[in-house]
Amino acid sequence: MIAKNITWVIFLVLAIAIGFYPIMYLIVDMKSNGLLASKDTDLLSSTIYNIGFYSHIYFGGIALLIGWSQFSKKWRAKYLNTHRVIGKIYVITVLLSGISGLYIAFHASGANLTKLGFGLLAVLWLFTTVMAFVTIKNKQILKHQQWMIRSYALCFAAVTLRLWLPLLPAIFKIDFSQAYAIVAWLCWVPNLVFAEILIKKLKL
Ligand code: HEM
Repeated sequence: MIAKNITWVIFLVLAIAIGFYPIMYLIVDMKSNGLLASKDTDLLSSTIYNIGFYSHIYFGGIALLIGWSQFSKKWRAKYLNTHRVIGKIYVITVLLSGISGLYIAFHASGANLTKLGFGLLAVLWLFTTVMAFVTIKNKQILKHQQWMIRSYALCFAAVTLRLWLPLLPAIFKIDFSQAYAIVAWLCWVPNLVFAEILIKKLKL
């Protein structure tokens, strides 16, 4: 029980911390410090890229911040209407962040393998979330829960990416661009495996 509670706390702290992280783009000049510093000036002055990038990070942040709250059985039973409203907001934010995420994946730093990893993640995030919506509209509650677990496990890639990224170069003595190509896959494939194990364990 204690171990379960500790796991929940770690999970929540990480989801909330990374969920708020996009706010940094409003506070700090990320164009000269963060990921955008590595992009060329043509891309940075493209209106479409800017709309895609900022829609992706802000709507993704909201999805990460609200998604976890949907998994509590107690809250669902007590506040079913709130569950429905938050669920709809989650789906909308995933659609906006996922579609823009797919677009910015084509401009991701590094090799084609990196672009493919992020691109596939975006497609699967969109697919699992749409399936979660369709199944609940068809009143298939267990299937809805399964798809939501998959969807949020993929959403959580935003967290696992930031855990793996500093670890890989430290452990395997590889450079940042090699680590980035690996992380574009490592941030979500194990999450999806974990989701399938959880679905089996919960007998959903
Ligand atoms: C799950 C599907 C997701 C996909 C496919 C995805 C994809 C991407 C891609 C391709 C980039 C740009 C990488 C580059 O140009 O090298 C990026 C950056 C970013 N994404 Fe996502 N992402 C996802 C989820 C999220 C979520 C849920 C958040 C919420 C916090 C998020 C926040 C960010 C931020 C803040 C950046 C800027 C990079 C940084 O400052 O660390 N992403 N994402």
